[in-house]
Amino acid sequence: MTRSRQFQLTVAFLALATALAPRPAHASVFVLAQVRVTLDSTYGCVSCHSEMRRSFIAGIHSEWGMRCHDCHGGDPGAFEIPAGHRQPFLGTPTKRETVQLCASCHSDPNQMRQYGLPADQLAEFRTSRHGELLLTRGINDGPACTDCHDAHTILPPEDARSDVHPTNISATCATCHDDAEMMAPYGIPVDQFETYRQSAHGTSLYEEGNYAAPTCANCHGSHAALPAPPGEVPNVCGQCHVLVRQEFYAGPHGDATLAGELAGCLACHSQHGTEHIPSDGVQATCRECHESGGPSDAIAGALQETLVQAEQDLEAARRSIEELVLHGRDVTTARLRFRTAQANQLQLELVQHSLDSVRIEDLSRRVRSTSRGIQEMAEVSSERRWEHKLMAIPVWFLALAVVAFSAIKLSVVRRSRD
Ligand code: HEC
Ligand code: HEC
Ligand code: HEC
Ligand code: HEC
Ligand code: HEC
Ligand code: HEC
Ligand code: HEC
Ligand code: HEC
Ligand code: HEC
Repeated sequence: MTRSRQFQLTVAFLALATALAPRPAHASVFVLAQVRVTLDSTYGCVSCHSEMRRSFIAGIHSEWGMRCHDCHGGDPGAFEIPAGHRQPFLGTPTKRETVQLCASCHSDPNQMRQYGLPADQLAEFRTSRHGELLLTRGINDGPACTDCHDAHTILPPEDARSDVHPTNISATCATCHDDAEMMAPYGIPVDQFETYRQSAHGTSLYEEGNYAAPTCANCHGSHAALPAPPGEVPNVCGQCHVLVRQEFYAGPHGDATLAGELAGCLACHSQHGTEHIPSDGVQATCRECHESGGPSDAIAGALQETLVQAEQDLEAARRSIEELVLHGRDVTTARLRFRTAQANQLQLELVQHSLDSVRIEDLSRRVRSTSRGIQEMAEVSSERRWEHKLMAIPVWFLALAVVAFSAIKLSVVRRSRD
């Protein structure tokens, strides 16, 4: 953790100033110093709650001098019950009390500013389905702060051990969203985590370690978790797929989404099982909505043909380069050209979202011509190889003739000796 020294001194000074003022247990204004608390044997609570001590010491709040009685109340100077739990004692906070407790610091910009932390979590939480369930309807099924952050081992999201770290957060959501019994009264399906884990996004995150891939919280929000209204779906996906969104809005499906007739990207891709659509499956995807034989189906057929062709062209170019390598040719130029073709093919996958036939045709032509160029290099190379072989024929003839001549000469000499 990098904190400027001056900042630490300021915090320490403020801590001293408030220490002099009388302060009630679990007061709503804390000023903390970066002094890791040890909660040793002089601290009564941990003489009985040693397990809680271990989990609390591992979290970030203990680094800032927070102690058990700051949240729970009670008397930390006592080593017996009931004195240890002397009033004011909060005991185990309910979910609502927990939200208030966390928010007593985290919703106060004056307390959070010095740490560079936003103070919007409670405000966002109130707007979510979860916050509404707990705070308005008083139902305990949904999460309080501690269901996602743990109550004692609370860590920053960047910490890989944190329940809200990108590799853990989806499983944290799934503790409830995989629970069929809990979700039944709300009519919410419970397949999101399993489906997501096997999707292009899930495999990118979990198998390739790609932190750019979305988790549940990227698409729904963390504190403000809600499903996007259908018309907003392209904006959810467009946080990352910026150029796809742009192309999408340039085409007829963008218009249909703005008119409220289509759920944006979800017309062809699925939200949790997000998948790569293979080029030979394009027309089948379109036929989910456009009847076979109609004018849009013809466009779909042409699009599929173009995409399949571009892929085949690229594959042919790749094989030509392999051939060149096999023959020991210099492939620097061929590889450079291949990269251009590959970039054009990726561009094509992107631009087809607009269904703009002019640009689609142009890109597919470029893939084709670059790829043809590479294939020709391989053809020329293999012709040259034959030329070399053919050129070698007279040399072999000559060598054979020399050998034959020498043999004849030798036998003549031998015979003349005899
Ligand atoms: C002498 C041992 C002892 C001491 C000292 C002690 N506790 Fe406890 N505490 C217990 C036991 C035993 C329980 C579980 C039984 C119960 O609920 O009363 C408990 C329960 C709790 C609970 C859960 C209460 C509930 O209603 O669910 C909290 C929170 C708690 N203690 C916090 C503290 C804090 C904070 C301190 C120090 C200020 C403290 N305890 C001091 C023994 C102790
Ligand atoms: C930042 C506030 C905070 C601090 C500091 C804190 N707790 Fe808690 N504690 C909670 C909350 C909130 C819960 C409610 C349980 C939950 O939400 O999972 C809880 C629950 C508990 C319980 C009951 C849990 C159970 O599973 O039965 C005990 C006992 C307890 N805390 C003891 C302690 C002790 C001992 C310390 C100091 C080492 C401590 N707490 C520090 C917030 C805090
Ligand atoms: C006494 C004030 C106070 C209370 C109460 C409190 N926190 Fe904190 N919290 C802090 C401070 C100070 C930090 C340290 C900021 C830092 O180092 O970045 C912090 C850090 C955090 C962080 C890590 C943020 C980051 O990115 O570094 C999380 C998450 C967090 N708190 C959640 C909670 C939850 C959940 C509760 C309720 C159980 C809670 N806090 C109660 C003061 C408080
Ligand atoms: C549904 C799960 C969930 C709940 C409930 C939740 N959080 Fe978070 N929290 C997250 C995730 C995920 C992050 C990681 C950063 C992000 O995506 O915003 C986070 C980040 C944080 C941070 C780090 C700074 C920031 O805002 O990014 C703090 C502090 C925090 N939460 C406090 C709270 C408090 C206080 C509550 C209760 C009012 C709460 N959280 C409730 C999931 C949750
Ligand atoms: C403690 C359990 C719990 C956790 C953890 C939890 N949820 Fe929920 N979630 C619920 C419940 C219960 C509902 C139903 C609320 C309602 O419909 O009123 C819900 C509703 C939702 C909804 C609204 C669904 C709809 O169709 O209305 C979304 C979206 C959602 N959760 C996303 C998330 C995400 C994302 C996370 C993790 C960052 C998460 N949830 C973590 C319990 C949980
Ligand atoms: C790539 C973005 C994305 C990711 C990742 C994602 N969701 Fe969703 N989720 C959506 C969209 C979009 C919808 C549908 C909204 C609509 O119908 O307009 C949705 C719908 C939901 C719903 C409503 C019921 C349903 O299944 O349709 C819940 C609950 C939900 N998601 C929870 C989760 C959870 C939990 C995770 C993590 C395991 C998650 N989502 C991951 C985008 C995403
Ligand atoms: C947080 C960023 C982010 C968000 C939000 C997001 N994606 Fe992705 N998406 C990615 C990353 C990263 C990949 C993996 C790229 C790779 O491995 O080539 C990916 C991969 C994909 C793929 C597979 C690409 C392929 O052909 O292999 C599709 C399709 C896709 N996303 C569609 C969507 C849709 C639809 C949404 C909204 C429901 C969405 N994405 C939301 C980042 C995001
Ligand atoms: C009309 C159907 C359709 C819609 C709507 C659609 N896509 Fe696609 N998308 C496709 C097809 C088909 C492919 C595969 C093209 C190929 O194989 O060459 C694709 C490929 C992709 C890819 C991988 C290629 C690349 O450029 O990285 C991503 C990412 C993607 N789509 C995201 C989105 C997003 C985000 C939206 C919404 C803004 C969206 N798609 C809307 C049909 C669609
Ligand atoms: C989920 C349903 C859905 C899917 C899947 C779908 N479309 Fe569409 N498409 C629509 C809607 C709705 C419109 C706008 C209303 C209309 O003109 O029919 C539209 C419009 C079009 C138009 C413009 C038609 C016109 O008359 O202006 C074309 C072309 C088109 N789609 C082609 C495709 C292709 C190609 C695919 C596959 C890559 C595809 N669509 C996939 C629903 C869909």
